[in-house]
Amino acid sequence: MARIALVSGGVSGIGAATAKLLKASGYTVITNFFGNDNEAEAFTHETAIPIRKWNVADFDETQNGIAAVCAEFGPIDTLINNAGITRDSMLHKMSYEQWRSVIDVDLGGCFNMCRAVIEGMRERRFGRIVNISSVNGLSGQFGQTNYSAAKAGIIGFTKALALEGAARGITVNAIAPGYTNTGMVSAVPAKVLEGIVAGVPVGRLATPQEIARGVLFLVDEGSAFITGATLSINGGKYMA
Ligand code: CAA
Repeated sequence: MARIALVSGGVSGIGAATAKLLKASGYTVITNFFGNDNEAEAFTHETAIPIRKWNVADFDETQNGIAAVCAEFGPIDTLINNAGITRDSMLHKMSYEQWRSVIDVDLGGCFNMCRAVIEGMRERRFGRIVNISSVNGLSGQFGQTNYSAAKAGIIGFTKALALEGAARGITVNAIAPGYTNTGMVSAVPAKVLEGIVAGVPVGRLATPQEIARGVLFLVDEGSAFITGATLSINGGKYMA
């Protein structure tokens, strides 16, 4: 039977590319979204991948959303925590809301989603979790104390959960993408982005598909010995 994969933030950018690649590779894929209804409908129209709406930053909504997905499609074996937002600002201008919202969605969402699937994975003695971190969680980034903290937090979370899942057939890994051609990156002021791309040895942004390839590799059953790892896919921008 096909493995069941849930991708958060899965109707655009890296999430959408991942959902499509998993589907093309034989997974039953469900994507979660919270933002733009029109974009989500267009995605499901194009791909026939079912979409379910909830806010990953909300604990109860996430538990209920995942329970409904499991009741409809079956237990989730494969979880991709991709949902994330940016609220860039230098710290001396950052509001509490800018700090809190990024921590709640990017890091809190990871907890809320994993918490909802982990007991089932432990019982079934199989699971694949991939958490999307960022190069900026490794290197830090000017204007992103909130985002860099959340994305670095994801790496610690990944390692701790990898230890807890190892004896139960559950692998937990992170991917740290570099600057990727997505809506999130195109919101960076053009002049700033030009400077960032100039610092990427490969000389360009990643495509979302290039990040999705890493996810597919990590969730494969043959990747059972890879756990607690952080896979950098950043065109050489930062070599940790
Ligand atoms: N390093 C050093 N100095 C910098 C700098 C940098 N990277 N960026 C800006 N500065 C300097 C500016 O030159 C300026 O100096 P002066 O005062 O001497 O002129 C000063 O800092 C203030 O800069 P701004 O005028 O740009 O300040 P601002 O408050 O208007 O904006 C900012 C600051 C919001 C951080 C803006 O620079 C910005 O949006 N930067 C992009 C941040 C970024 O890379 N975000 C990534 C989003 S995509 C993503 O996160 C995906 C992923 O995972 C990779």
